[in-house]
Amino acid sequence: MLTVKDKKFVTFIEKQALEERIAEVGREISEEYRDKNPLFVVVLNGAFMFAAELMKNVTIGCEITFVRVSSYSKTESTGQLTEVLGLKESIHNRHVIIVEDIVDTGLTMNKLLFQLSTQRPESIQVATMLFKPSALKTPLSVKYCGFEIENRFVVGYGLDYDGYGRNIDSIYVLAE
Ligand code: IMP
Ligand code: MG
Repeated sequence: MLTVKDKKFVTFIEKQALEERIAEVGREISEEYRDKNPLFVVVLNGAFMFAAELMKNVTIGCEITFVRVSSYSKTESTGQLTEVLGLKESIHNRHVIIVEDIVDTGLTMNKLLFQLSTQRPESIQVATMLFKPSALKTPLSVKYCGFEIENRFVVGYGLDYDGYGRNIDSIYVLAE
């Protein structure tokens, strides 16, 4: 049992299992992107720990950059828009891999894919540590996934509950 702010969490995916699986994903990407010089676009803050572990297992030539996604509503009629902050590199004609902590409804990833595709990359794929398929609200292709999980709230390994818990070295789930 672990307390993060006012909520109790229990062990869900242990560090060793998590890191073994992340290493596998890294090796898979290394094989599939050999000679493609991919550009990894890591989504902050949540993906920082997953990205570090993943990239230790990517053994091919590549570049890594970091972005933030901010949601804002410009007008009431257009609803929530997503702005990608911090991307200095040109992704035109590049093989892009977006690195995320978790895909939940998929709305964030969907908007991010849309924003980045306007720059016409050669290819674009998603690598996420966790994926909640039953929470998905929009069609989304997730090429690389660490673990598919049920629709429950998790913290640790970069994921936060109200800003806390990102430093936990494994995944915990909200106690029922
Ligand atoms: P989506 O747009 O619903 O896919 O949500 C994506 C974002 O919501 C993720 O990048 C996380 O920041 C946050 N999120 C979704 N599920 C969880 C969770 O179980 N724990 C912590 N954050 C989550
Ligand atoms: Mg996130």
